[in-house]
Amino acid sequence: MTESPLHPLRIGSLELPGNLLLAPMAGYTNLPFRRIISRVGGCALGAIEMVAALSPDQRRHCDRLALATARHPEEGPTAMQVYGRDPQRCAACAEDLAAAGAAVIDLNCGCPVRKARQAGCGISLMRDPPLIGRILAAMRAATRLPLMVKIRLGYDQQERTGLEVARRAVEAGVDAITVHARTGASRHGEPVDLDGLAAIAAAVPVPVIANGDQHDPDILRRAHAAGAAGFMIGRGCIGHPEIFVSLAARLAGQPEPVFSLSERLSWLREHVALTIDLYGAERGIRTLRRTPLLYCSGLPGVRRLRERWITISTLDDIEAIIADLPTA
Ligand SMILES: Cc1cc2nc3c(=O)[nH]c(=O)nc-3n(C[C@H](O)[C@H](O)[C@H](O)COP(=O)(O)O)c2cc1C
Repeated sequence: MTESPLHPLRIGSLELPGNLLLAPMAGYTNLPFRRIISRVGGCALGAIEMVAALSPDQRRHCDRLALATARHPEEGPTAMQVYGRDPQRCAACAEDLAAAGAAVIDLNCGCPVRKARQAGCGISLMRDPPLIGRILAAMRAATRLPLMVKIRLGYDQQERTGLEVARRAVEAGVDAITVHARTGASRHGEPVDLDGLAAIAAAVPVPVIANGDQHDPDILRRAHAAGAAGFMIGRGCIGHPEIFVSLAARLAGQPEPVFSLSERLSWLREHVALTIDLYGAERGIRTLRRTPLLYCSGLPGVRRLRERWITISTLDDIEAIIADLPTA
């Protein structure tokens, strides 16, 4: 019998009961999103949206940290991610996140959007492995919490620095490395390159977490064979908080749990209520507009309602759309 890819995972001093992890996703992985995931179960480590490492002056005037790091007792442990390029600012940000209740501190070296490239952050860091080493060393000195870094295989096919970055990260003291098995240039478009992941997993003494299409059990099995110790899921859980338990069932050859339409609608209602609770009505409704009808995609008639959803401006608008959703 082949060994199961799913098992407990240790990241530094943190013992996790499982090795399916939530990927950080700006615009999505806020407290309401994570609470629904926690309730459905199966995810061993949550993740917040990335937090920018600001200057001391910006930090004094910024109220975003409290919202970004808001947690609830029903959640399990949560990784909190730093986004930046200045070692001292990243270290200060790591301290803030530790004080806010992070179970793991992470550094973003993979975000490929133009804004990140222009700021020299995210994927741009992959062009400068020694800088990543200095940032992680400063973060390591700032916190005793388990430290992770989230990388890609390189900036692009010409600059595949993933292996060098991983070695520098280990020298700086990271406890685990997440590898999104694509380069920055391939964004989310190309198939994951699990040979690239295998080369990194074979070269470092810390757990390597596979990322990129891991919601697909066949790809997850291949990542396991390539040496991954854990699996991080991003887009696959948007609207599908059940992906973690479904995946575990499929990998074990058991029937997938079935979630009824009324459960999906209750997730939607609850997500709306929790979002308004956290952000207040005005910002809450703006936030909800970006996540059209989470949990209901694919249901009959929903595509038409999405056009209405992105224009919501009051709670009554939301209620009217929910009332028009299919009930059976
Ligand atoms: C909307 C969106 C926002 C994201 N934000 C972040 C982020 O803040 N930090 C990060 O490291 N990666 C971010 N990512 C990348 C994901 O964490 C993950 O690496 C990527 O989606 C590949 O995994 P998947 O195939 O499971 O989606 C984001 C991805 C998406 C789709």
